[in-house]
Amino acid sequence: MAAIKIAASAHYVPEKKVTNDDLSQLMDTSDEWISSRTGIHQRHISCGENTADLCTKVAQELLKKSRLTADQLDLIIVATMSPDCYTPATAAIVQGNIQAVNAAAFDVSAACSGFVYALTTAKAMMGLPSYQRVMVIGGEVLSKVIDWTDRTTAVLFGDGAAGVVLENSETTSSKFLSEDLETYGDLADRLQAGSTAPLQKFPANSPHHFEAFKMNGRDVYTFATHKVPLSIETAVKRSGLELEQVDWFILHQANSRIISQIAKRLKQPLAKFPMNIAEYGNTSGASVPLLFDELAEAGQIKAGQIIVLSGFGGGLTVGTQVIKY
Ligand code: ACO
Repeated sequence: MAAIKIAASAHYVPEKKVTNDDLSQLMDTSDEWISSRTGIHQRHISCGENTADLCTKVAQELLKKSRLTADQLDLIIVATMSPDCYTPATAAIVQGNIQAVNAAAFDVSAACSGFVYALTTAKAMMGLPSYQRVMVIGGEVLSKVIDWTDRTTAVLFGDGAAGVVLENSETTSSKFLSEDLETYGDLADRLQAGSTAPLQKFPANSPHHFEAFKMNGRDVYTFATHKVPLSIETAVKRSGLELEQVDWFILHQANSRIISQIAKRLKQPLAKFPMNIAEYGNTSGASVPLLFDELAEAGQIKAGQIIVLSGFGGGLTVGTQVIKY
């Protein structure tokens, strides 16, 4: 039976870097507060490039690395909470930009769990004969939905995109082993961006209003440190493996303290939980593939290794995938 392999991974971040010290010139914060509470030292911020632009750069790089032509792609899925617009989907804009004329394209909205939700969707669709080569990208320009006067959220996020090309292959020993997706809609109000109100009367005379990102950081922290270890345990158990057999836990980069806490709860060494939050901040849907690609590029991820990918965030949601690379 054919199995899914990751044929290539890639990432792209905007050029402009904004350090904690830069932010402390704009608002009442400090490098000490940000780095000690979150592990973040800087983030990349887009000036002029939108989410589909970042994702297109990743898509072009993925084609190069996988040696596929755009017309060989059957499907493009973009995970994002900061799309260019309500419609078309960011994935459709990317499809048009790279001229992937045979690919269907749509977005998945599950915030920081989005990439794992999108991978799971891809895995399911790759069981159908029409979807054999699939691009999955997580991309965000969060800087456009942040309230830059709110220091409680403005210091946390960064922009970026990253993704993978998946191929069904008869010859690979790689496998997508198991997953666990969870959604807690009763906690939806703990993290929101871009809320729009319905008309209060017709005809309306005011322009449409979109609300900036807002989050109850304490509640999301508690949610993540409790629910992510449980999701990882569930997904690993479903694969028939033990936690000790996992080589890498590639977690959503929201906060280094959350990741340390999860490692402790799982009783696994922190060395198995790589982090790049210091350089990029929280890039939401892009964070898991961005870290994956950096590790793959550095040769740290090796064929045959067991990798856990886990995201958590808006919804509230948690998503975990267990992969044999
Ligand atoms: N600089 C300086 N002081 C600040 C800042 C800042 N940037 N932000 C808040 N403070 C102050 C607060 O006003 C408060 O002051 P007070 O005690 O005088 O009232 C104090 O620092 C403590 O604030 P808390 O919010 O209680 O700080 P906490 O220790 O909880 O850390 C943080 C906040 C980093 C946001 C943490 O709660 C967290 O990481 N939460 C999880 C966020 C997360 O994981 N999000 C992931 C999902 S994101 C997604 O899905 C898109």
